[in-house]
Amino acid sequence: MKNHLIIILLIVGISSSCFRLYGGAMTISGIHLAKSTLEDYVKQCWQDFIDLMDNGVPGLNIPTFDPWFANNSFPFRMQDGEIVLRADVNATNVTSLGFSSVQVPAVYETSESHYNVSLSLPDLKISGLYTIIGSHHYFYPIVGNGPFDMTLLDVSSSGTTAVLFDGMVYSLTKLQLTPLKYGSATSEFYGLSISDMDSTSETYIEIVHMMTELLWSHVEKELRLQLSDSITQYLNDQLLDFQPSSMHRQP
Ligand SMILES: *[C@@H]1O[C@H](CO)[C@@H](O)[C@H](O)[C@H]1NC(C)=O
Ligand SMILES: *[C@@H]1O[C@H](CO)[C@@H](O)[C@H](O)[C@H]1NC(C)=O
Ligand SMILES: *[C@@H]1O[C@H](CO)[C@@H](O)[C@H](O)[C@H]1NC(C)=O
Ligand SMILES: *[C@@H]1O[C@H](CO)[C@@H](O)[C@H](O)[C@H]1NC(C)=O
Repeated sequence: MKNHLIIILLIVGISSSCFRLYGGAMTISGIHLAKSTLEDYVKQCWQDFIDLMDNGVPGLNIPTFDPWFANNSFPFRMQDGEIVLRADVNATNVTSLGFSSVQVPAVYETSESHYNVSLSLPDLKISGLYTIIGSHHYFYPIVGNGPFDMTLLDVSSSGTTAVLFDGMVYSLTKLQLTPLKYGSATSEFYGLSISDMDSTSETYIEIVHMMTELLWSHVEKELRLQLSDSITQYLNDQLLDFQPSSMHRQP
């Protein structure tokens, strides 16, 4: 019985090198022997973090990132001089789906103690509820209230973090990510009425484009700050188990 348990622990240890079980009393540590460098270790932890996105890490207060739910609302004002637009938008119940397909193609050292991390995503789906009330060209009304969907293609960001070593453990300073940019987007705001305009008209398309861009800039900020906090917390927790001295031992 005891032997079986040890074998199972070994398999768990081998298959997920820096995975730990939170919530239970068990901590699998000392399983990082095969990792040759800190960079490889951090890369593996990133991958583990991504694998945990659909569950979160309740023990570390890390929320789920796929799907990700924004608990707040996103009110903002749209203004544009060219079409004399002025409108107040509010989005709620915002959810993003697909973040766990994020690629972290590069975690590399830019200098002795700085890492540059790049993220990219082929597509990300955002949905939620919105309201809009406003006008364009002074008196043409813009009103809408209902669900919305956006699909963003080629989403990317990068960031830097510095490595600290206190003689015992390595840690990282907070990962500062740049705004998550997208290459192109398609979006639909159901029930949006822009002064009886057809949804294929130029002004309609322009307003939808502006709403998409502004709404994303608010949503991505919330998502990015939570991601920065969570990834930094997760990596630092994992780094408590990183023993450079054990690198030379073989299992
Ligand atoms: C929303 O979630 C964030 C991160 O989980 C938390 O810091 C914040 O207090 C929450 N806000 C509300 C209104 O619940
Ligand atoms: C946005 O909607 C939320 C939820 O309905 C509401 O609590 C909040 O007051 C609204 N914000 C604005 C500025 O209207
Ligand atoms: C929106 O979120 C609120 C608060 O979490 C919830 O009560 C409500 O049912 C949600 N509405 C929809 C349509 O999902
Ligand atoms: C990280 O490296 C990429 C690729 O070289 C670069 O485009 C990006 O600006 C860097 N990011 C930061 C925050 O230094």
